[in-house]
Amino acid sequence: MLLEVTDLAYAYGSLQAVAGASFHIESGEIFGFLGPNGAGKTTTISCLCGLLTPQSGSITLDGQAFMPWSKTAHRAHLGVVPQELAVYGELSGRENLQFIGQLQGLQGKALEQAVERALEFSGLQDRAKDRVKQYSGGMKRRLNLAMGDLHQPRLLLLDEPTVGVDPQSRNHLFESLRFLRQEGRTLLYTTHYMEEAQRLCDRVAILNEGKIVAVGNAETLAEQAGIPGANLEEVFLKLTGRSLRD
Ligand SMILES: Nc1ncnc2c1ncn2[C@@H]1O[C@H](COP(=O)(O)OP(=O)(O)OP(=O)(O)O)[C@@H](O)[C@H]1O
Ligand SMILES: [Mg+2]
Repeated sequence: MLLEVTDLAYAYGSLQAVAGASFHIESGEIFGFLGPNGAGKTTTISCLCGLLTPQSGSITLDGQAFMPWSKTAHRAHLGVVPQELAVYGELSGRENLQFIGQLQGLQGKALEQAVERALEFSGLQDRAKDRVKQYSGGMKRRLNLAMGDLHQPRLLLLDEPTVGVDPQSRNHLFESLRFLRQEGRTLLYTTHYMEEAQRLCDRVAILNEGKIVAVGNAETLAEQAGIPGANLEEVFLKLTGRSLRD
């Protein structure tokens, strides 16, 4: 087990966005983190990467207390691919990677190698010198992923990395994520595309109104939901209800 989250809670004023969520992530797996709009996925990710300080609950990484909101060194174990693109339009793809690499503490030869690896990984070598504002949506998403992963973190947190991309870029992202898993890396993966989660994830957690309502692989989740053999979308709707959330 790599990461264990116990009774995590966070409120924005009186709005309890995460309400006692508990789950764990195994080393080397792609862990799907699913839930309707407003379920608390991004808020949970923000606590895991130290952007927000949880009001209660605890996190361990490799069995040790993990407090990225107060310990800078802890943050270095994580990479984040945020829901909103975090790329600089005025910089080239290579400059974006160099800049983020420096923030992550890479320099010299190590930085150069990491940047070249990331450009190859994201299929952007030929466009590395172009300003990112000239990139397509798919290219920006691929760069966003490569930036989060540049320092090869223990755990990579991906918040809806395939929004607005075409099937080619989506497929490229899938292959990239599978490649990372083959390399023994661990990923938390958020998406609203259920067939994507079913294809890609080793296990899936379903978050609803700030609480985990089920965890397992697609097959065991269907059994837990009382609809054996059903696909993940049916299971998701059964467990989270059919009413609109926003
Ligand atoms: N900065 C904020 N201030 C106040 N409320 C917030 C803030 N960010 C999120 N919320 C609220 O907290 C709840 C959880 O939001 P969060 O963004 O974590 O959900 P999510 O599961 O990531 O949703 P989505 O699938 O739409 O990205 C929602 O009700 C949302 O409106
Ligand atoms: Mg979100």
